[in-house]
Formats: sequence, C-alpha cells, structure tokens
Amino acid sequence: MSITVERLGSSFVAEVHGVDIENLSDADWTVLHRAYLENKILVIPDQDLSVHAFAALGARFGEVVRHPVAKFAHPDEPDVMMLSNDTSYGKPVGVKDAGSFWHSDRSYMQRTSNETMLYSVEIPDEGGDTYFADLEAAYEDLPDATKRRIGGLRYISHYRWTKDRDDPESRWSFMTPEERANTPPTDRPVVRIHPETGRKALFVFPGITTGVKGIVGMEEAESDALLEDLYGHLTQDKFQYRFKWGGPGTVLIWDNRCVMHKATTKQLSADKIRTLYRISTLGGVP
Ligand code: SIN
Repeated sequence: MSITVERLGSSFVAEVHGVDIENLSDADWTVLHRAYLENKILVIPDQDLSVHAFAALGARFGEVVRHPVAKFAHPDEPDVMMLSNDTSYGKPVGVKDAGSFWHSDRSYMQRTSNETMLYSVEIPDEGGDTYFADLEAAYEDLPDATKRRIGGLRYISHYRWTKDRDDPESRWSFMTPEERANTPPTDRPVVRIHPETGRKALFVFPGITTGVKGIVGMEEAESDALLEDLYGHLTQDKFQYRFKWGGPGTVLIWDNRCVMHKATTKQLSADKIRTLYRISTLGGVP
C-alpha cells in the first residue's frame, strides 16, 4: 500500500490515503510527517481506530499533553479529551464546544501545542464543520512595512482573559483554583518562526481562550488598534479552509504553530450529535 497525498486547499490542507495508522513503518512515518509539515493539516479518512490506537498516533508525533481543564478526559485514556454534545446518558459525554472562536491550542501556555488531532466517532448529517486559517499565508500577504513594524513585537497572553469580566466564558467562571494557577500570563512573539520549517507565521488570535492582553511596551490604544488590524487581516476568507466532516472514522491533524482554527459546535441543534476524540502534543516556547 503506497501513501498518496492530495492538496485540498490553496495554500494548505491535504488528504492522505494508503496509510496504516496502527502499523506505521518508519518509512511511512517519514512520508506522513513530511506531508504534515508541507501541508500544515492532514485529513486521513476511512479509519477504524480504538481510543488507544488514536492515543498511540498522538504519541508518535510527540509528548501528549492533557488539556488544562480535565473534566472531559476519556475514561480509559486520560490523554484523550472527549468533544461531544451528546447528553443522552444524563450528563455530557464531553465538552460541547472546544472553541467557537479563532485560536491556536495552548498558545497561552508557556509551552504551546505542536499538533492537535481529532478523530470522528459520530458526525451529524450536517453542521459541526471546523474552520482553519493559514497563519503563514497571512504573514506573507502583509505589506513589507507591517512586517517590519511587527517583526520584534511581543504580547501578553492570559488564558480566558477578557476586558469584560462578566463574560460567562471568561476563565473565572468555571476553572478550579489549581487550573487558574497553572495558566499564568505569558509573553508571545507576534511573528512566530516555525522551529522545523523556518517559515514565519502571524501568531496572534482573537479568541477568548488565548486572552491577548496587549503588545508589550505599547500604549493600550495603539496596541488595541494594531491587534484589531491584525485580526481583521488574519480572518479574511482567502486564508481559510472550511473542513466538513464526512462521517465517522476520519483523523484530522493540524499544526498549531502555523494554523489557527475554530469550531462551529455551538450552532448544532440538540438532535445533531457530534462526538470526537481529541489529543494535543506538547510544543516549545515560541
Ligand atoms: C478544537 O477546537 O480543538 C476542536 C474543533 C472542533 O470541534 O471542530
């Protein structure tokens, strides 16, 4: 069986066939990993994986890291988080919404996440798509003057920080004292250099989990204006790819160092059940 890789989006996202995830040879791993670095997002359909096999795939990429909010870990595989809007057992099977706003996983932590992987267990006949944006394409598309202006800038990120402290999604609403203590503010470069490819990406995010407080050393008004400009730029349709989950048995892998994403699960009605396994690997300090 030979591996085929077909580009789906204009600058990123590829679909992979012919890969035996449970018996991945070193040669196939090399092909898969190169395809991942080149395409930033891989879609691997038609899989039949146990939660343990999915966890093993995560471990092949790197050190698996648990989500800072622990209550929706899979009962048999604590490294795997459950995403689900299924409440038919009397309580939620998993977290319903892993982020209906643009973000990159763990961008607010000292050590960020390299890969995030999802595996579809149950997919509704419509809805629940996942959106992605290519942060390297967005960086490349900036005017040279903006590239020069933001080149050395850093910003402060604080998990679920928001100017609006009454926002029900802010970090104060549901985190334990320990979870809060584990997510202190951290500083990030506005432009991140990918440690494996050397490519540059815009690395700021409008989503609440990333809690971008402001550019270091810049007046608040100037910082807010610059961030708003960058968010407007990043979220243009031309950098996006809308991934439609075809059904169960699909593995999706993305590179948080150069891609941001958002879920649409909040828009799902109660009769449209969607359940996925989720894994993240530990990355470096940008
Ligand atoms: C995630 O944000 O990790 C999951 C995205 C999704 O549920 O579509």
